[in-house]
Amino acid sequence: MKIPKVKAKDFLKMTDFSKEEIFELFEFTLRLKRDLKKGRHYDFLNKKTLAMIFEKNSTRTRVSFEVGIQQLGGFSLFLSGNDIQIGRGESLADTARVLSRYVDAIMIRTFSHEKAMALAENSSVPVINGLTDTYHPCQSLTDYFTIYEEKSDFSKINLVYIGDGNNVANSLLLGAPLLGMNIAIATPKGYEPDSEVISHARDISKKSGTGILITNNIDEAVQDADYIYTDVWTSMGQEKESEKRKKIFKKFKINSELMKKCPERCRIMHCLPAHRGEEIDSDVIDSENSIVFEQAENRLHIQKAIMCSLMMK
Ligand code: CP
Ligand code: NVA
Repeated sequence: MKIPKVKAKDFLKMTDFSKEEIFELFEFTLRLKRDLKKGRHYDFLNKKTLAMIFEKNSTRTRVSFEVGIQQLGGFSLFLSGNDIQIGRGESLADTARVLSRYVDAIMIRTFSHEKAMALAENSSVPVINGLTDTYHPCQSLTDYFTIYEEKSDFSKINLVYIGDGNNVANSLLLGAPLLGMNIAIATPKGYEPDSEVISHARDISKKSGTGILITNNIDEAVQDADYIYTDVWTSMGQEKESEKRKKIFKKFKINSELMKKCPERCRIMHCLPAHRGEEIDSDVIDSENSIVFEQAENRLHIQKAIMCSLMMK
C-alpha cells in the first residue's frame, strides 16, 4: 500500500496539509481501517519512536497515538510536562533539539500554540499538534474523515457548530473551506472563533466558493444543518471561568428542542469528553443520529495515516 505524500514537515494546523493531500490521507485511512478490522496489520513504522508531551489531560489523544504507533510496529513515550525538564523551565527549543536526537517524531499537547510552533521550529523531526489553546487539528481532520465515510461529496454539506469558539471550532473553521464544505458557527457574543482564523478561513472560502456564517443567532445557524457539532463550554486551562461560562452559554446547547429545528437527517457530533447536561443532553448524544463514538474511533485510524505520511519521507 502506498503511503500518501505530504509536503509539510509538521502538522500543527489544518492548512499545513493541502486539500489534495487530505483526501489522499482519507483514502489511505479508509484502507488502514478496513484492513485492521480484517486483522491485517502493517509495520510501516517498524522500530520508529514517537515522544508524546502532555501538559494537559487526555484520554483519546494519548491512547489512540499509543495504540496507533504500536499497531504500525513502533513505540511511544508518554512524557508528562510536569515530569520532564520543561516543567522546571528548560526551554522548548533545547527540548526539541534533544528529543530530535532520540525519537522519530514528537506529539505535543500544550497551552499556547506558540509553544507547539517553537517546538516544531527547533526540532529536526516532525511535530504533531495534539491540541493547543488555538487548534486541535488531529480532531478536526478526524471529524472531516468521519463525514467523508458517509458522504464523499462535501460541496453540498452544511456543518453547524454551536458553542464556544475554541480550539475545536477554529480547526473546523479552517478545515471546511479548505475541503469544500459550508460551515456555520453560532457562539455567544464575545466567544466567536479567533479573529485571525476567521479571516484566514474567509480567504480560503473565497477561492473554494464555500459559505461561512459566524453568528450569535442559533436559529439562523441550524436551518439546513447536515451535521451539528458542539464542544465543552469550558476548555482545559479555563477552569476558573467555569461558573461564568455556564451562565453565558446556557442557550448554546444541543438538546431535543434544538434538534427539532434541524432537518431530520442531521447528524450529531462532539469531540468528547462531553459534559452531559451542559453543552449537550444525554438523549441527544446517545441518539441514533449521533456519530460521536465513530469520531472517537477514527482518531486512531487518521493519526496512523498522519504518522505514516510525516514519518516516512
Ligand atoms: N477529543 C480529545 O482530544 O480527547 P482527549 O482530550 O481525551 O484526548
Ligand atoms: N476544547 C476542549 C477540547 C478537548 C478535547 C479543550 O481544549 O479542553
